[in-house]
Amino acid sequence: MTTIDGGPRRKTPFEPLVDQIEAADGLDGPARAIAARVRQATAPTALKEALSGTWLGHAAHPLLTDVVVGSFLSTTLLDVLGGDDGGRARRRLIGVGILASVPTALTGANDWGDSEYGNDPVRRVGLVHAACNAGALALYAASLPARRNGHGLRGTVLGLGGATLLGLSGYLGGHLSFAQGIGPDQTIYDAGPTDWTSAGDAVDVTDGRPARVVVDDTPVLLLRDGDQLFALHDRCSHRGCSLADGTVDGDEIECRCHGSRFARADGAVRRGPASAPQPSFDVRERDGTLEVRLRPLPS
Ligand code: FES
Repeated sequence: MTTIDGGPRRKTPFEPLVDQIEAADGLDGPARAIAARVRQATAPTALKEALSGTWLGHAAHPLLTDVVVGSFLSTTLLDVLGGDDGGRARRRLIGVGILASVPTALTGANDWGDSEYGNDPVRRVGLVHAACNAGALALYAASLPARRNGHGLRGTVLGLGGATLLGLSGYLGGHLSFAQGIGPDQTIYDAGPTDWTSAGDAVDVTDGRPARVVVDDTPVLLLRDGDQLFALHDRCSHRGCSLADGTVDGDEIECRCHGSRFARADGAVRRGPASAPQPSFDVRERDGTLEVRLRPLPS
């Protein structure tokens, strides 16, 4: 037998830093306390849905970060490249960045509070991401009076410090989204079978009790209500909890993790924080076997 030893994997430049943050259990105490307060403060449904992007169809936080980062970095670019004699545009850009920081921080804290529970790396990286943002905000805000009082160089240096922190924060935010999977619709990569596929014995699905089966590697929630059968993707689109562990209430299923509600008939979001509907399936019973097929999205 031949053994191939490729040696240790080469890490990307910032991976050691992220590894250290993810392993920093000293952050857990303050992070857990802050996250608990955040969840408490964002619990009212209307606020939760507004911050989570339920109205938008995906998370609102990335949209808002563009405004903050764009305003602050444009300021620093003008500092470095010139083109704003008198500094009025830069002062206005900083003002926009400061104002936009408020909803941006609220949406980010809300998303993090819903994600950190039981997820140590996300809890720790999210806290450092927030700390970098707070530092960047403080530095740009401090540069504003410096600029107004004619200390342009001090304002530029403070802005450069803020831009550095924004860069680090952006990297960590990207890590949370793209490496840790915080934010995307959790059903997007396995919506389910598009042709009729067996989902198990019909007798295993009893009236009013959600049943979880796996169909072609896709978790599917089956629900019987008298003569009617319903099937939804079982992995909650919000943060991935199993809907079969949730509660059936009338024609809705409520996820146990953060209380999102989905219509049992078509997976539509009836209540956030989820922002994406659950894929839904046609169901039929043949010779005692249930079969499901992904229902096309309405055109
Ligand atoms: S995982 Fe958050 S509501 Fe379902």
